[in-house]
Amino acid sequence: MSVRRKPRARRESGAANVLWGGRFAHGPDAVMQQINASINIDKRLYAEDIAGSKAHAAMLVKQGIITKKDGTAIDRGLNRVLRDIESGAFEFDPALEDIHMNVEARLKDIIGDAAGRLHTARSRNDQVATDFRLWLRRAIDRLDEKLTELQAALIDQAEAHADAIIPGFTHMQAAQPITLGHHLMAYVEMFGRDRGRMTDARARMNECPLGAAALAGTSFPIDRTVTAKALGFDRPAANSVDAVSDRDFALEFLAAAAITATHLSRLAEEMVLWSTVQFGFVSLSDAFSTGSSIMPQKRNPDAAELVRGKTGRVIGALNTLLAVLKGLPLAYSKDMQEDKEPVFEAADSLGLCLAAMAGMVSDVTFNREAMAAAAKAGYITATDLADWLVRELGVPFRQAHHLTGRLVRLAEERGCELAELALEDMQLIEPRITAEVFSVLTPERSVASRTSAGGTAPKNVRRAVTEARRRFLAKGRKG
Ligand code: ARG
Repeated sequence: MSVRRKPRARRESGAANVLWGGRFAHGPDAVMQQINASINIDKRLYAEDIAGSKAHAAMLVKQGIITKKDGTAIDRGLNRVLRDIESGAFEFDPALEDIHMNVEARLKDIIGDAAGRLHTARSRNDQVATDFRLWLRRAIDRLDEKLTELQAALIDQAEAHADAIIPGFTHMQAAQPITLGHHLMAYVEMFGRDRGRMTDARARMNECPLGAAALAGTSFPIDRTVTAKALGFDRPAANSVDAVSDRDFALEFLAAAAITATHLSRLAEEMVLWSTVQFGFVSLSDAFSTGSSIMPQKRNPDAAELVRGKTGRVIGALNTLLAVLKGLPLAYSKDMQEDKEPVFEAADSLGLCLAAMAGMVSDVTFNREAMAAAAKAGYITATDLADWLVRELGVPFRQAHHLTGRLVRLAEERGCELAELALEDMQLIEPRITAEVFSVLTPERSVASRTSAGGTAPKNVRRAVTEARRRFLAKGRKG
């Protein structure tokens, strides 16, 4: 027995579309409109959309494709649309799907039929590819500023603590003493490379899709160099199918953003760890901590935890867009409309995290005594001892390593640090050891001795600070 289903009642959401309704007798189903409309997301592209349209219209006039009169009307009308949007008077209409059609429909209200000439030799496909590149270019510039501010904050702290001793860890076990300044300057390098990745992505994305039209180019005598130049692009994109199909520029941005967020997350993790009672290396400022509603003693590093947590969103955004694109045939498919939300999300989250981290780093108090005390534990100068045996007694390093291991074991048995062993005890293991050895067993001596290029010695850190200000902060520097 077959069950006959009642045909679903159509819920038409309105009349056929004003911009392409000629082909259609009916308007879209309400659900169709809901899945199709992107205006709530892509309205953020309004300024870029209007800038793109103005450049396109000016080029159409210059090439004699539309009249000067229509061009002027379009340009003025677009100024008005921009004002309406920025004043909040503009009503975005989901029936008009996206920012492109919302702007064009409003333009028609303002200037009448001349508005219909704007879309000559253009498609929403090259339009959106252009708008999105313009938006992302500016977003990258803003993120670069924030990254620079974070670097500046780190460099200032590194300078102030060029000689502060902390335990350096490998496997999260005390390894060798290092200076706090050196540790902080490691992040300055990481964020410097992040900026480099953003700059590279920006340079590659700076080609103009306008004029690719839907996918094949156009039969109108357009000049793509004019629009490219007017919008600050280096050149028109070379292939019209590529220009409307690929979003690798967004992927590159998201990859760079995910790496940056990962770097931030590692720094955030250290803030969390170092602010525990057990470490006590840092005190975060009131401005970047929160209390607990139940435990009065608590002072929680929420900002650092949220930076760490939001990294998930940024990594997720990269994966989202990779998954959207991976099965798409050329050229444009509507799937690609899903490209904006992850990019906006990643740019917003990253911007916020960078600002929060710059604030935390500027405000944090480093507890130099607690750090120095921690750097005395864990036989942390064992490598210095082995090096001394090599240098002073001519022992091969492998053998020095073995002897030092035995000395560490002895200290462990005695329940003391290496520097606290009696000379006689040391001489039980290697009779040629002299009292001179004690001079290399302090963390201060250890870090001061590490003057090899890129090493942790305070004087290296001070030089690195000067260099970093020149490399990363100087106005008009070369990238
Ligand atoms: N809103 C669309 C997007 O973001 C614009 C391009 C639409 N093109 C089309 N052929 N339907 O991708």
